[in-house]
Amino acid sequence: MLIECKDLVKKYRLEDRELQAVDHVSFSVAEGDFVAILGHSGSGKTTLLSMIGGLARPDQGNVYINGVDCWRQSELKLAGMRNQLIGFIFQFGSLIPTMTAIENVLLPLSFADPGSDPSAKIPLARELLDQVGLADKENSFPAQLSGGQQRRVAIARAFINRPGIILADEPTGDLDEDTEGEILEIFRQYNTEKKTTFLVVTHNSKLVLTQNNPRTFLMKDGQFSEARISGST
Ligand SMILES: Nc1ncnc2c1ncn2[C@@H]1O[C@H](COP(=O)(O)OP(=O)(O)OP(=O)(O)O)[C@@H](O)[C@H]1O
Ligand SMILES: [Mg+2]
Repeated sequence: MLIECKDLVKKYRLEDRELQAVDHVSFSVAEGDFVAILGHSGSGKTTLLSMIGGLARPDQGNVYINGVDCWRQSELKLAGMRNQLIGFIFQFGSLIPTMTAIENVLLPLSFADPGSDPSAKIPLARELLDQVGLADKENSFPAQLSGGQQRRVAIARAFINRPGIILADEPTGDLDEDTEGEILEIFRQYNTEKKTTFLVVTHNSKLVLTQNNPRTFLMKDGQFSEARISGST
């Protein structure tokens, strides 16, 4: 299995109250799976993705990626796995405001391979910006881009290291329908041609239905269950 989550728990303490944001979640994802995660606001989707991606330490349970128990690794090793295996598309603005669009896209390279020369990847960064429809914006700063354009830069950035896993938190949340369709098509291509594994949080069941073999999970009050949503195919 590419990803295995075993009995994941994440609690938050608010004054004297304890909230179980993720409540004993176990599931596994095979290489090439396309996983859609649905659920109401506050149900724990972002928290779950953060634990899988090595960003938020679980209170209990394990995340295995290729059999490696992520949260039992040193910080350095964990950071290495995060940078080399995973591309993130965060729910909220995550671009560096002082860097241009193309510099933002190139940024993960400097974490994954600090000695490397990012200029070698400029053609790839341009290709990714072109794929998300921003070929003419590579030198724009985030503040000069619309919310949806910033979102698309963040999508391009997630692919720069050619990660095997993309974790995407509401990637098309604020995009118009055409742009959303284009982004979903990019995801589909990576998924079918490069066997990139996707875990995508979404409120939009269209995303589920446009993919070939989606697996759909529903998050509810921190609990996680696999659902069968039957598409037209
Ligand atoms: N850092 C934190 N401190 C305290 N509580 C938190 C923290 N982060 C999240 N929570 C709480 O944990 C629960 C799950 O939050 P999470 O962000 O995972 O939900 P979500 O499903 O991603 O929601 P949305 O669809 O609105 O993004 C919520 O009740 C939230 O208030
Ligand atoms: Mg969220």
